[in-house]
Amino acid sequence: MKFEDKVIYQIYPKSFYDTNNDGIGDLKGITEKLDYLKFLGIDYIWITPFFISPQKDNGYDVADYCNVDPIYGTLEEFEKLSFEAQKRGIGIMLDMVFNHTSTEHKWFKKALDGEKKYQEFYIFKEGKNNEPPTNWLSKFGGNAWEYVEKLGSYYLHLFDKTQADLNWENPEVRNEIYKIVKFWLDKGVSGFRFDVVNLISKPEKFENDYEGDGRRFYTDGPKIHQYLKELNKNTFGQKDNIITVGEMSSTSMENCFKYSGKNENELSMVFNFHHLKIDYKNKDKWALQPFNFQELKDILNSWQVGMQENNAWLALFWCNHDQPRIVSRLGNDKKYWKKSAKMLGTVMHMLRGTPYIYQGEEIGMTNAYFDDISKYKDVESINYYRILIDKGLSNEEAIKVIMERSRDNGRTPMQWNDQINGGFSKGTPWIESIKNYKEINVQNQINDEDSILNYYRKLISLRKNYKVISQGKTVPLAENDKNIYMFKRKIENEELLVITNFYEKECYIKLDFDIEDYTCILSNDDKNKKIEKNLKLGPYDAFIFFRKK
Ligand code: GLC
Ligand code: CA
Repeated sequence: MKFEDKVIYQIYPKSFYDTNNDGIGDLKGITEKLDYLKFLGIDYIWITPFFISPQKDNGYDVADYCNVDPIYGTLEEFEKLSFEAQKRGIGIMLDMVFNHTSTEHKWFKKALDGEKKYQEFYIFKEGKNNEPPTNWLSKFGGNAWEYVEKLGSYYLHLFDKTQADLNWENPEVRNEIYKIVKFWLDKGVSGFRFDVVNLISKPEKFENDYEGDGRRFYTDGPKIHQYLKELNKNTFGQKDNIITVGEMSSTSMENCFKYSGKNENELSMVFNFHHLKIDYKNKDKWALQPFNFQELKDILNSWQVGMQENNAWLALFWCNHDQPRIVSRLGNDKKYWKKSAKMLGTVMHMLRGTPYIYQGEEIGMTNAYFDDISKYKDVESINYYRILIDKGLSNEEAIKVIMERSRDNGRTPMQWNDQINGGFSKGTPWIESIKNYKEINVQNQINDEDSILNYYRKLISLRKNYKVISQGKTVPLAENDKNIYMFKRKIENEELLVITNFYEKECYIKLDFDIEDYTCILSNDDKNKKIEKNLKLGPYDAFIFFRKK
């Protein structure tokens, strides 16, 4: 694997840093913060879509893939950013949304104007007895088909109705996509994240799903591996060292062996989300339950072992722009805020795979806890609030769910300092800042040796200095322990032992193997901790032990 010692930082530009005080973060803002990212020690930034878009889904509804949306800046500003990043040894990964386009894209507009050629760029189907073609549900709520009066047919949208699914069966569509990827490769980008890319291959027959919402028919669809191999061969595969990651929605491990397999020529690595559904009641994101720790461990462990046995590579992450903040979700964002944030970071950075840090995670940013629906901007949150109310929940009950599950939890402005709006903007931010920016911000942590920020810097530098972290095999341990997540990493003559307590309660762990020669190389508690056969762990403790034989 080529990217095993790299760390990637995800930027949601809208909320990162605003340089012209219009309340919206911009490309110039990223350029201005490159020195901070260099200080952190990351290798690549993945920037979520800044292409021309009506912003119904914050840029995941693209109207023109080869231009910068004026709210973010200009193509020249992108080139400047790219130049400055390169100077600092930071690569840029772009976020390509090819499952769908905005309905404002010229292809879709031409389709609506009756041009046959462009109707075949999308998935238009006739309904049956005044009903949509199938009963599939959109991932943002409601039926997945939208009726177009003028054409007398429906188009498929797996997401919002302003995001029309592309027809990958059509070779002309694939060709257009290759052109877009090449356009950005020519601009010197280092890699790509492909949005919900395992949904692009739709089934031959469109039929009702009587068991689910339709996803089993199009997830990891029939031609997905062919499409990815062709995309690779016709675009980024022609260059050396292009890093790619696919966002795999509800995928299976077997498919990920291929998506990211060493000799498969598809992608460098994959995101999957199974480990982040452990607090969904009956798999329903909008039904709350405390997180199931055993399930979390089982999922992490089985993916570690499965992927390494099959020479496949994982993208490791707790946070992104679609997820609530991890310290609020699995940690404790009050009494043990600092310790639990560090403990969670330890786990992700020490597993086998490439770690991704989402802006603000490195300073322990928390959930927003917005208690009024009017404060939410996300199309999915707003749709589901309605759906919950229609189901009979009271405003209070519905808000309680949204407060925990909304994607806006991860989209509030980056907290740079204790000034107005956390130093993100002097204007009115497009989404409110979290009031705790007074305490939780970069400035407070940068010179504090004990801060979460400096702990993340250490985690990153460990990866660069220990081969066992970047390349070792994972061996899960204490698989059924009720409090502890623990594993070893092994390579040749090096061994790493990672022990973490996921709870507030003190506990003990029996180390029933040879513990000779291990020394602690990092901890969120006592850095001089001696390893012992019967090891005591305090609240949210994390220890990394190392030995060389
Ligand atoms: C991905 C993106 C998400 C977006 C969706 C549709 O899951 O991460 O933000 O809404 O795809 O493009
Ligand atoms: Ca701006």
